Amino acid sequence: MREGTAAVTRREDYAPPAYWIKTVDLTFDLDPAKTLVFNRMQIERNEQVPVQALRLDGEDLNLTRVLVNGESVSFRVENHQLVLENLPAEPFTLEVRTTCAPEKNTQLSGLYTSSGGFFTQCEAQGFRRITYFLDRPDVMAVYTVTLKADKARFPVLLSNGNLIEQGELDGGHKHYAKWSDPFPKPSYLFALVAAKLVCREQKIRSRSGRDHLLQVYVRAGDLDKTEHAMRSLIASVAWDEARFGLSLDLDRFMIVAVSDFNMGAMENKGLNIFNTKYVLANPATATDTDFFGIESVVGHEYFHNWTGNRVTCRDWFQLSLKEGLTVFRDQEFSQDLAGSPSARAVKRIDDVRTLRQHQFPEDAGPMAHPVRPDSYMAIDNFYTATVYDKGAEVVRMMQTLVGREGFARGMTLYFERHDGQAVTCDDFAQAIADANPDSALARQLDQFKRWYSQAGTPRVHARGYYNAEMRTYRLELSQSCPPTPGQPDKAPFVIPVALGLVGRDDGRALPLQLVGENAAAGTERVLVLSETTQHFEFVGLDAEPVPSLLRGFSAPVVLEDTLSDAELLILLAHDHDPFNRWEAGQRLALNRLLAAVKGDGQVHLDAPVIDALRAVLHHPTLDAAFKELLLTLPGESYIAEQLEEVDPQRIHAVRESLRLQLAQALHADWEWAFDHYQVANEGYSPDAASAGRRGLVNLALGNLCLAAVERQSPLWPGKAYQRFKDADNMTDRLGALSALVGAHSELAEPALERFHALFKDEALVIDKWFALQASAPEKDGKVFARARQLLSHPDFSLRNPNRARSLITALCFSNPAAFHRRDAAGYVFWADRVLELDAINPQLAARVARAMDRWRQLAEPYRSAAREAIARVAARAELSDDVREIVTRALG
Ligand code: ARG
Ligand code: ZN
Repeated sequence: MREGTAAVTRREDYAPPAYWIKTVDLTFDLDPAKTLVFNRMQIERNEQVPVQALRLDGEDLNLTRVLVNGESVSFRVENHQLVLENLPAEPFTLEVRTTCAPEKNTQLSGLYTSSGGFFTQCEAQGFRRITYFLDRPDVMAVYTVTLKADKARFPVLLSNGNLIEQGELDGGHKHYAKWSDPFPKPSYLFALVAAKLVCREQKIRSRSGRDHLLQVYVRAGDLDKTEHAMRSLIASVAWDEARFGLSLDLDRFMIVAVSDFNMGAMENKGLNIFNTKYVLANPATATDTDFFGIESVVGHEYFHNWTGNRVTCRDWFQLSLKEGLTVFRDQEFSQDLAGSPSARAVKRIDDVRTLRQHQFPEDAGPMAHPVRPDSYMAIDNFYTATVYDKGAEVVRMMQTLVGREGFARGMTLYFERHDGQAVTCDDFAQAIADANPDSALARQLDQFKRWYSQAGTPRVHARGYYNAEMRTYRLELSQSCPPTPGQPDKAPFVIPVALGLVGRDDGRALPLQLVGENAAAGTERVLVLSETTQHFEFVGLDAEPVPSLLRGFSAPVVLEDTLSDAELLILLAHDHDPFNRWEAGQRLALNRLLAAVKGDGQVHLDAPVIDALRAVLHHPTLDAAFKELLLTLPGESYIAEQLEEVDPQRIHAVRESLRLQLAQALHADWEWAFDHYQVANEGYSPDAASAGRRGLVNLALGNLCLAAVERQSPLWPGKAYQRFKDADNMTDRLGALSALVGAHSELAEPALERFHALFKDEALVIDKWFALQASAPEKDGKVFARARQLLSHPDFSLRNPNRARSLITALCFSNPAAFHRRDAAGYVFWADRVLELDAINPQLAARVARAMDRWRQLAEPYRSAAREAIARVAARAELSDDVREIVTRALG
């Protein structure tokens, strides 16, 4: 148990360090039970600040020795710090020896063991669990690392940078490797690995003519699952050179996969450590979604080498400096790889769905915080959708305001100014603006930066007035932002609103000319809303147009327009912007769902909407992936976010009813799509086009099974079962299995059993098996009962984060109707797991704890029961800071 101090750290308290650590020479004698760490640092005073004690952070360490310039000195340890006073005025050497117990480190922060090997995770504050240090990102040092370990058990010894020496010790029982990283780096980028691994490697020559060795390290049986990760890495290197002129600065770049990992992956300099989930894939075990996830996470971590490592964060409040920017970069990378405009749009829609599903609720709940937060108790709690995904939207808006080329120029200036430094979000925005002095961004930079300082999702209200006599269309845009914790009043944001006007009769893209302009400037443009209310008057319009606003989701806001169903149908059929076309379809469904939830609970899919959706399904040129997105109903939690008061059971019932109607009304069309979109049998390829076809076929199959079970026809469930058995790839197999499970078919049971038997040795596939069952559409409480039972399945474990998430996250976050029960059993389940997990892994426990963020929005009896469960967790005396912060805010 890591008991908290409940101390709050504030951004405004930032002070530069009193000392600089220039070099670090680390020697590890690796033993799972007791590892010796010998740390020799060159330290000097920071002349800019008054002389004071040196306070080095340390956690869960046994201190055995402290020497200054080779002599023993007096020191004390207080509040997880080693404190040294009366240090020399001149630069000095500090040697610290400690020991730690990696095999007891269940938090997976610092140095820990997984499947018998050693791995590290230092971001944000894990390095202090390895040795005493100034564990803050603005202290950057050059590292030399020597690893010593048993040769047979740990044949591979890796650390950051270049291998400069290796050899045997102890007559060959042990061996050592010495690594040196020439780039000064903050401690959070340190990494080591000592394990029995094999690697796929590839030599590449980059554009600049430099040779590099790329390596992907995995356990021996997993080598056949590394091809896609390697491909993605090669593509990442090429992309960053082509798009931003940023080259790989290392001779060797390594990725290591580990099966016990708290998050997705980590960008340690030259030695990225990854959750196996984002490395391992072959057609038999990974779905198309997994393949795309690998591409984007490999890209993400690689792109950090510049945005994060070469230029890093001054303090952890600036986290979005690297994360928002790097998410933006990985999103752009995936879009560029996808290629065609519609494939790009599919990726954009996916990203917006993620934002709305995770970030919007966060911004509306007790954990709402600005992209650059102002305070934290546990920094690990701020690796959030806001910092990552909203942060990426903020960067995207900058690109929208200065243009793609202007943005690339800004990036170049950013690196010219700050390479090798630890800087702030302000520094980044300033560089982009300074490189584009004539842009709307430069003109309103201070106001634009409210996106960094104000939390909450702004609402943009739009209304159009057509004047037939004057042939003008006057668009009124206004903005507001709801209060968030600690921020009752918000000042206006700078909101780029991309728009087009669509002809009501022919769906034509109309030329856009604002009053006072000489000519029309194309059919799409970006308006900048920066006041509370603004008007824009378009001229030369023969008839009232249909406005297509916020195209491509040009700002992370909620758009409130007054579009009628008839107008949404026009956009659905004709909008040139694929994002808004998709949005129109979602809105049509959402309008009906919300009306039913607020009304008598009866939802009805009317003929015009059915016809429109049918037309989409049969459309001759739209991508399959786009059709799949368009024909998928908004999720239950997205529906919930539109309501003042939420009854999860009612939302579920209404949505399930609409899902069934969609399956039935388009039955013949689903049959057609199922046949028409089959992927030719010539071996699996994870490209966007074939993935799109598989996705649509799976959606069709899900609908066909649902309709079949309802009318007790065995045909489609039988076909799905057959397809499940015969599938030659995981996307098809899991798709067929989900169709059976999602339709509550009798064949789901035997299929699940068979699936488990087939993949019992594939951990990542067994994760899917748990997740599928825990996220199945609830019916009569059976799904919850099953999930609770699965806790005692021999394959279940709370210690492995992927496995814990596969069951708990799937139930508590992805399955509202199974989780929110009138008898409160879901909340009891939640509280028990949070408390159990907190004793093992506080970071993970705190993630799970957030399932209750939106409890205040619940209707009774859910609300009271939820409060009680949260209070029970909060009442536990020994709680980590991580969980304490979440439950305190929830109740606050
Ligand atoms: N920097 C890593 C990434 O986004 C994630 C590190 C997360 N650390 C944490 N303590 N949650 O690529
Ligand atoms: Zn990142």
